[in-house]
This record gives sequence, structure tokens and C-alpha cells, in this order.
Amino acid sequence: MKILQPHPRSPPTHGSRSKAPFALSERMSPHADQIIHNNDDENDCWKSDMQPFFPRASFTKMCIPALLYSILFNSVLRVLSYVPFNSWMRINPSTLHQEDCFITPKSSSPPIAIVTGSNTGVGFETAQALAVRGYHVILACRSRQKGLDAVDKINQKISTVCGSEDISKVGKASFLQPLDLASFASIRSFCKTFSEKYDVLNILVNNAGINSQGDVTEDGLEICFQSNFVGHFLLTKLLVPSLMKAKNTYKSNKYKEEAGRIVNLSSVTHHFAPSNERTLSNGHGSADLFRNNGIHDKHFWLGSATPGVSTATYRESKLASILFTIELNKRYGGEKGVRSIAVNPGSVSSDIWRNESALTQKLYSLVYLTPKQGASTSIAGSIGNLPTDALYLQPYWQPAFGRKMQSATQSFQRSYPLPFPMFEMLGPYISHSVTVPRLPADCYKSSEQLWEVCEGLTSA
Ligand SMILES: NC(=O)c1ccc[n+]([C@@H]2O[C@H](COP(=O)([O-])OP(=O)(O)OC[C@H]3O[C@@H](n4cnc5c(N)ncnc54)[C@H](OP(=O)(O)O)[C@@H]3O)[C@@H](O)[C@H]2O)c1
Repeated sequence: MKILQPHPRSPPTHGSRSKAPFALSERMSPHADQIIHNNDDENDCWKSDMQPFFPRASFTKMCIPALLYSILFNSVLRVLSYVPFNSWMRINPSTLHQEDCFITPKSSSPPIAIVTGSNTGVGFETAQALAVRGYHVILACRSRQKGLDAVDKINQKISTVCGSEDISKVGKASFLQPLDLASFASIRSFCKTFSEKYDVLNILVNNAGINSQGDVTEDGLEICFQSNFVGHFLLTKLLVPSLMKAKNTYKSNKYKEEAGRIVNLSSVTHHFAPSNERTLSNGHGSADLFRNNGIHDKHFWLGSATPGVSTATYRESKLASILFTIELNKRYGGEKGVRSIAVNPGSVSSDIWRNESALTQKLYSLVYLTPKQGASTSIAGSIGNLPTDALYLQPYWQPAFGRKMQSATQSFQRSYPLPFPMFEMLGPYISHSVTVPRLPADCYKSSEQLWEVCEGLTSA
């Protein structure tokens, strides 16, 4: 794989960087009033021969075919579900087998999990499923009231599931203190309280996210990139010592013990980052600040974190989550035993679409997955016995194009990288399968640069 020539990144459109986390001299250029233009050809610089990134226009074009594909396939599946011999197609939702899950020992206190943004949507369903499976789940939400309401709902569900059974067989939900990922002070305070109260963390699910951008956080960063990614970077880094103390074991003796597990929520939109932006003038004397050598350059990621520079911070945050997963495995995996996995929940009808019109939300509720279905990749990522090379899970069936769809382990099907990511946007739901994400060539270089930038931004 090779990367073509790099192009300049768009400059900031306003100057709201009063709390610049990097030294300004590091960002400044002598050509401050220059106007930078991107064009489609220049966008080729992001492409590798094998896995090209797709511009925003491709994403828009793909929505209608993906919708039709989904409606068609799901109708066919509905009919086929009545046919007794349909199992050969391997398009039934796969279950996570008990023997492929971590044990939750009944003798000691329940293992601890933290799920961010768990008062609603995919996060709520993930937290509830883990609690029902015996975990003590800490709901890490920015609103105390919403968090406490969600805790009540989960604990009520547990008492229903538990019934007259021994209460020690199930876990519980609890609320520690508010966690706002758009505030480094809030993250540090949350982690301090956690480590004062608990010694070990078994599972961390970095789930919280927003899909709107433009605002600036109290730390001076772009709100979407901080909430979805940089905040989770700091949270994870502060919790790694507790994750390293965890012992997660499987029922089957075949597999050795792991330390803690980290699940990072990504999205199909990672295929479309970086985007094909055409912006680009700057009236604030800093046009060249973000000139860089593309995705392998820390100034690229600095641009994502800086308000006003990129119009694609959601997609960039979701690509960053996968690169972060790679770097976490490199730094804390192996002998240290902390395993990280990125997951795409699929297209899910949840509160994340709260800013869309009522009609659009209705349409999404008809064709998208439910939050419960969307949680299946996070649950499999949290407690499943992952195949050794699994980096990314997604929830849809994908055609094998002549290759035999192989089973990765008992609970995990394997999908193949496809030329176009339509099959990962909408389609027949199969719960979770190991899939190859779309990464830049030399992704270790990108992940290292990203890591360094985040260390600078968070001072962690
Ligand atoms: N829905 C989809 O189609 C889809 C597709 C791909 C990936 N994803 C990813 O899946 C994850 C869950 O999404 P969802 O669909 O379940 O969304 P959702 O229903 O909107 O839930 C998002 C959660 O994140 C919380 N949150 C937002 N900003 C936060 C902050 N600064 N600090 C702490 N918590 C914050 C929200 O809290 P409040 O309730 O207080 O706002 C909420 O609990 C996200 O990372 C999203 O990017 C979703």
C-alpha cells in the first residue's frame, strides 16, 4: 500500500483558541494570510491503493442505495426466516455463547464496568446487558438526574430478571458522579473518585458521543472531537492502571486470562474521513497553521481538535477511535494483557438524531436498528472471547464474494473488507462480526501522531 502526495489541511475560520493547548509557536507559519484551496484531486493524498477513503459526496450518494438494499434484504430475510434450512446462509443473528464470555465469579464481588453516555441509546442497552450478566456497571453520564433515572430502570429490570433467584447471580447499576467528556476537569475528577473507591476496572466502554459540531469546550477544543474522542483518550489513560489490575477469564480453559477490556465506539463514517472539504480562506491571520503532511502528521489531528478548522470532526473522531484502539493494543496489549476493540453499532435509531426533523427521525425508526440491536457489538466487544486479530466489529451481514464465510471463533463470524462500505451502513442484522476497518496506509504512524497530539492536548 502506498500513500500519495499530501495536501494542506483547511485553516481555521475563526480564532477561538484562547486556551491553546499546544504552544502557539508550534502552530504558527510565516505565511499567515495565505488562502488555501483543497480540490478533489488533492484529496487523493489520503488514499492508499488498497483502501481508498471516500469523499463526503460518495457518502451522500450511497444513502439511497443503502436504504433500498436494506429494505430489500430485510424483506427477503423475513420470508426466509420461515424456511427451515436457512442456516447455511449464516445470516441469522449470531448469539454470544456462554462459553465465549468472561466468567463473572459469584464468590467475590461483581466485576466492574464503566459505560460512558449510558443514560440512553446504545450506551443504556450496553450497561443494562452487562448488569444483567453480573457486572456492577457504573453509568458515567453528564447529567446526574438522567444517570440516576437510568440506574433505577436497570436495577428494576434486574429485579424482574432475577425474580426469586439468588440476587448475587446478577449485577447492578450505579451512579458515581457526573462525567462530562467535554471537560477535562470533570474527567479528572471522575477518575479520582473512581480510583478512591475501586481498585480494579474490568471493562471500559467509551460510548458517549454527539454528532453536532461547532461549539468550543471549556478546554478550548472543538466540541464533537473532544466529546467523542479526546475526552475518552484522557478517561482511558487515567483508568489504564485500574484496567491493568483486572483479571478477566473465560469459562473455557483453553484461553488464558486477560486484563481489562476497552471498547471504543466507532462508526461506518470512519470510511469517509477525512472528508473532501473545499473551504478555505482565513481572515484571522493564521491560514497556514494547519498545513501538514496529512493523516500521518500531528498537525492534521491538531486541526481536528481545533474549533473552526474541519467540518468533518464526527468522521475524524470515529477514525481516531480505531487508530486509538490500535495504539492501545500496542502500548497495553500483549503481555500487559489489556485488550482493546473498536466497534460500529450500525445505523441506530437513537437520541443521536435529536436535531433531525420529526419526519426524518420517524424514517430512521423504521429502517435503522433499535438501540438494543446496536448494543450487540459493544457487548460482544466487552465480554466476548475475541479472535486474536480482531480490531473492529460491526453488526451487518456482508457478502463474501466467492470466499467462504469463515467462522472466526464460535461466537464471531468474519466479514471481508469490501470495495464500498454500503454493506456496513444498512443491511441484514447479524449482531456482531469481525470486519476489517478502512485504515490509512502506515496506520501505526498515524496512531502514534494522534496519541502524541492527545497527550499534548490533555497534558496526560
Ligand atoms: N446512532 C447511530 O446510528 C450511531 C452510528 C454509529 C456510531 N454511533 C456511536 O454510538 C455511540 C452511542 O450513540 P447513540 O446512538 O446511543 O447516541 P445517543 O442516544 O445520543 O446517546 C449518546 C450518549 O452520549 C452522552 N453524551 C454526549 N455528550 C457527552 C459528554 N460531553 N459527556 C458525557 N456524555 C455525553 C449523551 O448524554 P445526554 O443524554 O446527556 O445528551 C448520551 O447519553 C456514539 O459514540 C455514536 O457516535 C451511533
